[in-house]
Amino acid sequence: MKLLPEVLESVDLIKAIRRDIHAHPELCFQENRTADKVAQQLESWGIQIHRGLGKTGVVGTITGTQGAGKSLGLRADMDALPLQEHNQFEHASKHDGKMHACGHDGHVAMLLGAAEYLSKHRDFKGTVHFIFQPAEEGGGGAREMIKDGLFQLFPCDAVFGMHNWPGMSVGEFGVTPGPMMASSNEFVITVKGKGGHAALPHNSADPVFSATQIASSLQSIITRNKRPIDAAVLSITQFHAGDASNIIPDSAWLGGTVRTFTHEVLDLIETRLRHIATTVAQGFDCEADVEFLRNYPPTINHPKETEFAIEVMKNLVGEAHVNPRIDPTMGAEDFAFMLQEKPGCYVFIGNGDGDHRSQGHGLGPCQLHNPCYDFNDALLPLGSSYWVNLTQQYLSAK
Ligand code: NI
Repeated sequence: MKLLPEVLESVDLIKAIRRDIHAHPELCFQENRTADKVAQQLESWGIQIHRGLGKTGVVGTITGTQGAGKSLGLRADMDALPLQEHNQFEHASKHDGKMHACGHDGHVAMLLGAAEYLSKHRDFKGTVHFIFQPAEEGGGGAREMIKDGLFQLFPCDAVFGMHNWPGMSVGEFGVTPGPMMASSNEFVITVKGKGGHAALPHNSADPVFSATQIASSLQSIITRNKRPIDAAVLSITQFHAGDASNIIPDSAWLGGTVRTFTHEVLDLIETRLRHIATTVAQGFDCEADVEFLRNYPPTINHPKETEFAIEVMKNLVGEAHVNPRIDPTMGAEDFAFMLQEKPGCYVFIGNGDGDHRSQGHGLGPCQLHNPCYDFNDALLPLGSSYWVNLTQQYLSAK
């Protein structure tokens, strides 16, 4: 592992920042304290900042001293989750019901570490933008920054993102060209029938019965409609109807999520879902209203930038520690919006299995979105070195 010595020298400061952010988690679009902290740090290193894109977003910019060149965007997410932390260690959350359980505290810290280094080594061509975005956890903070003019104000030839990945060892990276994470979409189907006495079902149009037929029929989209080689998930996660054992209710509703790696498969699933829900309901004298909401598009890595990122990772940790064809995951990520606008690549950095957690951690596993999770501080110099090397190599490449 070829960690940058100066990055290692700053690791105590960066670790203190990480733990401070962990102790003060803020939810979607409320990252005011975090954004203040990020802005103060960047300014303390003489980095020009811009605030307010996507409400709480912060962009720091360094232009190299070697003249005009390419421009690069590096992105970290800042928000926490609505979750009660079970850890008892010193830097555990001070805010009830809020927790950095996805490691965005560490993402911020790794990018700050790189910003500090590059603020002292400006001998490169072109420009690097450090993009600290709000609201990755469902709020679409990346989309909001883009809407507010992110790439007009800060033109980028390419954008790169990184997420810690529990279960992958520290010192390992994983990535794949093409789809890396899935599109995330939700639906609600409201089935309207005619309620009545449960002992006289022939006088009713039973929405509960209709909804159960819809629920089982929808799985036919996955097994009978999409091509078997295309990955997709359709999960019904909510089913609500009725208040009493002897009353057939007027309506029922079910909801769930759809995940795909392409827009084409998503289009197919949405069309079939609407058709099946409507016609199955009609078959039982009911009506179905379908709401289908597309939240995040699939996160699709661009081939050239992915090959470039793989080379940077190999130089840093050695070829044996980079998986260049990692299995994609059905989780979703709003960096997808940036990759729709600009070429780029999103990578996973191993967070280990949880042995790193300070004494006082909860008994659960160290998985993302788990109340016993903690970002692994051992990644800080590694992640920062990756960002620095990537910047220097990208901006010096022809
Ligand atoms: Ni995350």
